[in-house]
Amino acid sequence: MKTLLERYKEYLPITDKTPIISLREGNTPLIPLVNFNKKTGLRAYVKYEGANPTGSFKDRGMVMAVAKALEDGSRAIICASTGNTSAAAAAYAARTNIKALVLIPEGKIALGKLSQAIIYGAKVIQIKGNFDQCLNRVREISEKYPVTLVNSLNPYRLQGQKTAAFEIVDELGETPDYHFLPVGNAGNITAYWMGYTEYFENNICKKLPKMMGFQADGSAPIVYNKVFENPETIATAIRIGNPASWEKAVKARDKSKGVIESLTDEEILNAQKYLASTEGIFCEPASAASFGGLLKKYNEDLIEKDSLVVCTLTGNGLKDPNVIVSRINPPEAIDNNLEKILVEANFI
Ligand code: F0G
Repeated sequence: MKTLLERYKEYLPITDKTPIISLREGNTPLIPLVNFNKKTGLRAYVKYEGANPTGSFKDRGMVMAVAKALEDGSRAIICASTGNTSAAAAAYAARTNIKALVLIPEGKIALGKLSQAIIYGAKVIQIKGNFDQCLNRVREISEKYPVTLVNSLNPYRLQGQKTAAFEIVDELGETPDYHFLPVGNAGNITAYWMGYTEYFENNICKKLPKMMGFQADGSAPIVYNKVFENPETIATAIRIGNPASWEKAVKARDKSKGVIESLTDEEILNAQKYLASTEGIFCEPASAASFGGLLKKYNEDLIEKDSLVVCTLTGNGLKDPNVIVSRINPPEAIDNNLEKILVEANFI
């Protein structure tokens, strides 16, 4: 089986000198939503990026960015992160024997992601501030010190991430009518649009999808067209008030005749629960914004029957179990007594 960089080599900035590194990222499952489709008459799928080696789509971009950093002789990478980028940076740095330095906003990253950055051996620095402030800081540091910035401002990140669009077209044999995504720093929606556009220009697909981006209502700078100084949402991965790829995302939205809208935290959590309890698919809260967007647009009667729809589930649900257990109490222990258990199970 070819690695991601090998498979899509001709579409990626790969030279003879680029090291083909890999943790076997990509090639993630495209899962049909059988119960939802039965109910709605749609042909909807989720692209389950939680199956990547560090549990999020960030691995696709990170493998490309780290390969290019190595090619350029860099021995250290730096990023700001709401959690997933730092996990991916830390893993690929460990894999390739270089240093990773990550700046994270205090108290606002999910425990699973923090554990990843620590165990992979990154230097983790927690800042009294939000993601946007961390990002400004790492830009400043990477300009002055010999360390490569691997946030999505690094163009190789988006190059790697666009491969998800290729995989979708390769598997479906056509382009979806609609592609739903969560939007945070706005890199991923930009990368997918780039991927679909490149396949279209190379005649590999015959049309382009409408790009449907969803932010959290408390962190929705693109929707309201203003910087959010103090973004807030339970979906911490997309708690971003001033996205780096803002203009590119607006371009993707407008060129594709799509939308960028917002969902309340309640709508996001309901979508997360719906996917888990009706389809058996567990994603993290931010990821559920894509499917939440589909639910919203379907309920507004805006998605035609039989439409081919893909929602990207950007990260694995196991990264952020606290969101679940802080809202739903785990069951209390009862005695190991058959009768009591049967009563509890409503069998008698
Ligand atoms: N979903 C998840 C799970 C994410 O971690 C992110 C971004 C997004 C969606 C939004 O993607 O930024 O390309 O619009 N996480 C970044 C991080 C910011 O630091 O891990 P985007």
